[in-house]
Amino acid sequence: MTERSGLHYVSRVTRRIFAAMSAASSPIQSFIGKTVVITGASSGIGAEAARQLARRDAVVCLIARREEELRAVQAEIQAEGGEAHIYPTDLADPKSVDACCEKLLAEHERIDVLVNNAGRSIRRPLIESVGRMHDFERTMQINYFAAVRMTLNLLPRFRQQGHGHVVNVSSVAALMSTPRFAAYLASKAALDAFTRSMRIELAEHGIDATTINYPLVKTAMTEPTKVYKYLPQMEVADAAGWILDAIARRPARRTTPLATGFLLATSAVPGPALKLFAEFYKRRLEKAQQKMRTDQAG
Ligand SMILES: NC(=O)c1ccc[n+]([C@@H]2O[C@H](COP(=O)([O-])OP(=O)(O)OC[C@H]3O[C@@H](n4cnc5c(N)ncnc54)[C@H](OP(=O)(O)O)[C@@H]3O)[C@@H](O)[C@H]2O)c1
Repeated sequence: MTERSGLHYVSRVTRRIFAAMSAASSPIQSFIGKTVVITGASSGIGAEAARQLARRDAVVCLIARREEELRAVQAEIQAEGGEAHIYPTDLADPKSVDACCEKLLAEHERIDVLVNNAGRSIRRPLIESVGRMHDFERTMQINYFAAVRMTLNLLPRFRQQGHGHVVNVSSVAALMSTPRFAAYLASKAALDAFTRSMRIELAEHGIDATTINYPLVKTAMTEPTKVYKYLPQMEVADAAGWILDAIARRPARRTTPLATGFLLATSAVPGPALKLFAEFYKRRLEKAQQKMRTDQAG
């Protein structure tokens, strides 16, 4: 079997498994009576998930740094008859995270779901990362430590209630080892491992944990990298839909069939699988760059 046909086979089989799984899944119900805390709710996936959840009757608590943007999302939700509360917070600052959680716990008798969605991405080759430890520290700070701090602060409430659910937003890059994203994907991989531990440790307390590994999504995060326009990108409304679905069904993980295929392959045969992925990624990127050049020339 050639590398190329092997890849197509894995992709076809996983796509079939996923189609069968989603056919068996229940449609999204109303979230009436649920309070959902969402970080990174001032734009992109988080803001859209907040809108969709509020439309289905959830009370949403919106966290991010940019107060004006948070107010705008809150106003949209309120204009549609929904309930939204805002908590302007810098999640990279532990004191600010603790103060935000204190306020949340004081203002909401019940908190059902925490969506750790806020994040930052850094794209830089390792060779150019020499002397830039701060790239690794910053991504860990927001993508991992902030999510862990939010979770630990709300955990006593989940235990007291006898239920709770943490949805952690990650990337397919953490499963597929995308080149030039070492800082970003290591921080998301840490979050994935934390989520798995949480799921097995806290199930007996009625507390669930889900990882969502998104592929490329059309948001402000991907905007600056022009070549992404020429790669397949998920619409933000569909990405937000994955969060609603995760809240409704509480799976351990939600991702794409292709990422699952690579996860299986890299677990079973890491050497050949990483080589295969590097080739796959290179070809995909080259094709996209070619399209971009043609577009720019015409
Ligand atoms: N877009 C993609 O292709 C993609 C793919 C895989 C995974 N993801 C993940 O999806 C999540 C959402 O990203 P997005 O694509 O929707 O991008 P986005 O529109 O840039 O959203 C990022 C959110 O994180 C918040 N944030 C960043 N730093 C923060 C801080 N220090 N304190 C508080 N909030 C902070 C931002 O709000 P403020 O700036 O107002 O603070 C913003 O609301 C991220 O975790 C990202 O890693 C995205």
